[in-house]
Amino acid sequence: APPGPLAGRHLLVTAGPTHEPIDPVRYIANRSSGRQGYAIAAALAALGARVTLVSGPVGLPDPPGVAVRRVETAREMLAACEVALPADAAVCAAAVADWRVAREAGHKLKKVPGQPPPPLPLALNPDILATLAAPGPRRPRLVVGFAAETEHVVEHAREKRARKGCDWIVANDVSGDVMGGEENTVHLVTEAGVEDWPRLHKSAVAERLASRIAAAMPPGMAG
Ligand code: C5P
Repeated sequence: APPGPLAGRHLLVTAGPTHEPIDPVRYIANRSSGRQGYAIAAALAALGARVTLVSGPVGLPDPPGVAVRRVETAREMLAACEVALPADAAVCAAAVADWRVAREAGHKLKKVPGQPPPPLPLALNPDILATLAAPGPRRPRLVVGFAAETEHVVEHAREKRARKGCDWIVANDVSGDVMGGEENTVHLVTEAGVEDWPRLHKSAVAERLASRIAAAMPPGMAG
């Protein structure tokens, strides 16, 4: 690994959407581009960390020096994260689908003339961030989540930090064109309080977050 403040550290990052199959040809998805998570993985690797990036389906190339595990569904994403543990820190930037189709059809659902559309009952997906942040011997020392909000951004992020059990929340103001866009306006919510960051390119948000993570785990500290 290259030298740097995160040399010897293993960082786990999730990114992108998940695809939840309906049948062999259809799925439920969302508009996440994966850009912010990929930029974070790249920034952590640039600081010397060994990085495992668990990525949903995106159109982005593997960041240099990062081990990418490509998955489709939320359940596959959780399993890949658990395989990647132990990690010194985890950053959950993925836009995981909250729900999956309860029973994936083994064949393409047929449109039958004169028949109503098929019902599509949903099931709750696992919460990867909350699972990684749950107390236990394999909990990464620092667990960072994201929160996309359009209003009461910081208040909701504080509540999310408590509910999910994570250490930090990067709260995104998504009232503009953040989803798929190049820039991001975020607030870093920690135990100590809230920092408002200026509107920055996603790569600058990633670099800033990576250096904050490096500062939170000084070299030489036990993992
Ligand atoms: O409350 P919400 O689900 O929007 O919180 C978003 C945060 O939780 C993000 O960090 C996201 O990566 C994570 N998350 C997750 N697994 C889920 C849902 C959200 O890891 N099933």
